Amino acid sequence: MHKKLIKFKNIPLSNGLLFNLNNKIKNYDLKVGYNSDTHLVSLYDNVSPEKLFHNDYVYDSSQSDTMVNHFKEAALSIQKKYKCLSPLEIGSNSGIFIEHFSKKNPIAVEPCSNFAKITTDKGIITYDEYWGDAISNKILNSHGERDMIYSANTISHIQNLDECFKSIYKCLSKDGVFIIECPSFLELLKGNAFDQFYHEHQSYFSCLSLNIILKKYNLSIFDIELYPVHGGTYRYYITKDNYYKLEENVVSAINEEIKYGLCNYDVLKSKMEVIKNNISKIKNTLINLKEKGAKIIGYGASAKFTQVTNMSEIDNTIIDFVMDTTPSKQNKYLPKSNIKVLPYNKELLKKADYCFLGAWNYKDEIMNKEIDFLKKGGKFITHIPTIKIYDINNR
Ligand code: TMP
Repeated sequence: MHKKLIKFKNIPLSNGLLFNLNNKIKNYDLKVGYNSDTHLVSLYDNVSPEKLFHNDYVYDSSQSDTMVNHFKEAALSIQKKYKCLSPLEIGSNSGIFIEHFSKKNPIAVEPCSNFAKITTDKGIITYDEYWGDAISNKILNSHGERDMIYSANTISHIQNLDECFKSIYKCLSKDGVFIIECPSFLELLKGNAFDQFYHEHQSYFSCLSLNIILKKYNLSIFDIELYPVHGGTYRYYITKDNYYKLEENVVSAINEEIKYGLCNYDVLKSKMEVIKNNISKIKNTLINLKEKGAKIIGYGASAKFTQVTNMSEIDNTIIDFVMDTTPSKQNKYLPKSNIKVLPYNKELLKKADYCFLGAWNYKDEIMNKEIDFLKKGGKFITHIPTIKIYDINNR
């Protein structure tokens, strides 16, 4: 049973870019709730997976050096720790993790067929399907059990966790390790990263909530690591039937979450008020700058950028355009705000006084790359944890 935490009305799908401004868009309410049995914060009344993950899916993980390096390091570190004789990745996107296992007969599952093709083209057997009972049986029958199952930013997208974890249990070998990566809900709250709330993100896992849910399926977290990507991401190491020994850092992570108040509905509710105030501040700051005649452009047409602009009711009358390196996003329009996505071009920065950093999670990577813009008096704006303007002196 969900207790309502926050509701955003009439929000379009964050990766539902428009080919032209006559395209019809469908808006949906975004409802975030708290389950007091599992302590999981998740969406309720969500849209169907077929509307979210399909053959025109636009998010491409290979567009950021930060993510390319992160997944390469993840692949190397996991292979040092575990045998990985039969790896499987669930949600391989452009294959920047699983490609580092190419000598070990890896398998990938990716429901967006445009990205499944990219992973296939890298020589990896890729099933263009949603993870669940049917594909897990197929993999088991054709390839046998898996000793390493990895899934980054995907399990939190899956609505039917019951089928998901039963299928994992079935495919995982006795001494196998199941590794999930996803943004930590504790870090999301500490950083007020409200733009992580979007329809693709079904579950906002904490170590505590994930472990409670996994235990129903004889799975449990035995080790945990925190990485800075996406504002604070946990890598959870999960064992079947307690094969691996529980590490102390899991207990500490859970205790920290309880201390912060992740089991306390009132604490969570009060954080939602902070978030609502921040959204108003973002709106007022951008409107004030525009009224003073500033030229504002966007940098990085991420799903988060679509969320922050729509949640703060900022549109193409305030932000002239947004630049992005992803070919499938370019020359399209962001839904509702109608902000046009232009191909990344350094010259376009010359048109701006302020650059609103949709991709705030790559702040350091982008500010280093665009140091000339800052040197010439340009300013970046980020909105997480609160709205802040950076110039050459305070970057
Ligand atoms: P993400 O935060 O969901 O990974 O999305 C980041 C978006 O920003 C993605 O569309 C790629 C884009 N991007 C650029 O255009 N230039 C850059 O330098 C970086 C790091 C990202």
